[in-house]
Amino acid sequence: MIYQIYPRSFLDTTGDGVGDLAGITARLDYLRWLGVDAIWVSPFFRSPMADFGYDISDYCDVDPVFGTLADADRLIAGAHDAGIRVLLDWVPNHTSDQHPWFVDSRSSRRASKRDWYYWRDGRRSGTPNNWRAAFGGPAWTFDDATGQWYLHLFLPQQPDLNWGNREVVHAMHEVLRFWLDRDVDGFRIDVVHLIGKDPALPDQPAELGSVDRVGIHDDPRTHGLIREIRRLVDSYPGERVIVGEVNLHDTSAIRTYYGAGDELHMAFNFLPLATPWAAGDWRQVIGVVERDLGRDAWPTWVLSNHDSRRHRTRLGGSEAVSRAAAVLLLTLRGTPFLFQGEELGLEDAVVSPERRVDPGGRDGCRAPIPWTATPTHGWPTVDPWLPWPPHAEARNVQRERADPGAILHLYRRLLAVRRTSPALRHGDITLLDAPAAVLAFRRSTHEDQRVVLVNLGETEVEVHVDGRWDIVVSSDSAVDRWDGALRAGEAVILQPGAA
Ligand code: GLC
Repeated sequence: MIYQIYPRSFLDTTGDGVGDLAGITARLDYLRWLGVDAIWVSPFFRSPMADFGYDISDYCDVDPVFGTLADADRLIAGAHDAGIRVLLDWVPNHTSDQHPWFVDSRSSRRASKRDWYYWRDGRRSGTPNNWRAAFGGPAWTFDDATGQWYLHLFLPQQPDLNWGNREVVHAMHEVLRFWLDRDVDGFRIDVVHLIGKDPALPDQPAELGSVDRVGIHDDPRTHGLIREIRRLVDSYPGERVIVGEVNLHDTSAIRTYYGAGDELHMAFNFLPLATPWAAGDWRQVIGVVERDLGRDAWPTWVLSNHDSRRHRTRLGGSEAVSRAAAVLLLTLRGTPFLFQGEELGLEDAVVSPERRVDPGGRDGCRAPIPWTATPTHGWPTVDPWLPWPPHAEARNVQRERADPGAILHLYRRLLAVRRTSPALRHGDITLLDAPAAVLAFRRSTHEDQRVVLVNLGETEVEVHVDGRWDIVVSSDSAVDRWDGALRAGEAVILQPGAA
């Protein structure tokens, strides 16, 4: 299980209302207690914060709001001491417009780094092509100083790097080496499918209209670039891993980014973010992932992250659904990703218009983590950069740790069960017949098997499973024996019963 930390909102230790690296280090004991195998830390590099760290002006330094390089070293070492691996969030497709590379590039048409970014003349109609940026508007900005347009698939403050230029490849490889030498275990690679581009930058077909480029860009040049990244990462001792964000809608297209075992180790599977809480939809998603990824591409599962509404909010807010979703996420075949606070059953914060700060409207899920029940919730200030999530007086680490019935303990138990069951860790998955409201599947290896049943409906339902079964975990803490029925919203893991 990989736990995503959004450092601005994890824990502040300085009193400026923004979380920092020392805050993460201070809570490694909590992450170990929970059962986290690895953390992925969203970007903490120097950044003007137009996209809250996804616009980087120095890849090899820590932004002062988060601390120093020494804090990063302490975090990495502390995590390793706690048995937790550390993945950094590497953003190869674009830099900040304040990065010295771009400052040089835009200074003149003859600048030494002019070609490190995409500069083009406009057409009579305006922009050099018809691509649209992810946060709206054209993917091009005109620069008066040199009379050309530059490409940015996100904000104008995030110019796209030209990976067709070997100097760029070399410079970005140096960034990877810088952090691998500091002993990180790998990278979550931001929108990695965007890095290869046809230098002609052809228009996208008119029938795609104003669909933004990020969800459709799929250029064969990217694969060679990823293979080089993989070779670099593999050249380091120990097990290092790269997980790519490939924001394509089609799982068979995402499959190609695993290559022949020589590209990404894993790619995000975002289907669950758009899957309603209905058994039929989940059966379909599991079927698609199994079919399209096949045997050689290891799946990933995610219900919440820093770019989307938290699943508790998305799925209607109920405690029962959040608990059942935890059972589902942690029993599917593949690596689950947990977004900080998901284990507390958090919902999105309600952010008033005057407090909104994100250009992509994603503030709600990025609310700070409440650690205690006190008014400051364990932060040094009552008023962090975003408002607290709802019910922070009850949904906080202190309260939930003290309550064995809290969802936090369910997550912890599920993680423990998963660790000790080969079937859950790496067994096959087979969908089983079940009543319409129930998602049922078997996980199995030669020596081990588990059956998972999730009642996505609102009434009790009987489910027949051949053989004798015991409950290992139920999402309903009042249930400890398998009697052939699932309560409304209940999910269970079953193991073969004693004969
Ligand atoms: C990814 C990140 C998102 C960011 C974007 C641009 O999708 O997850 O937060 O805004 O890339 O870097």
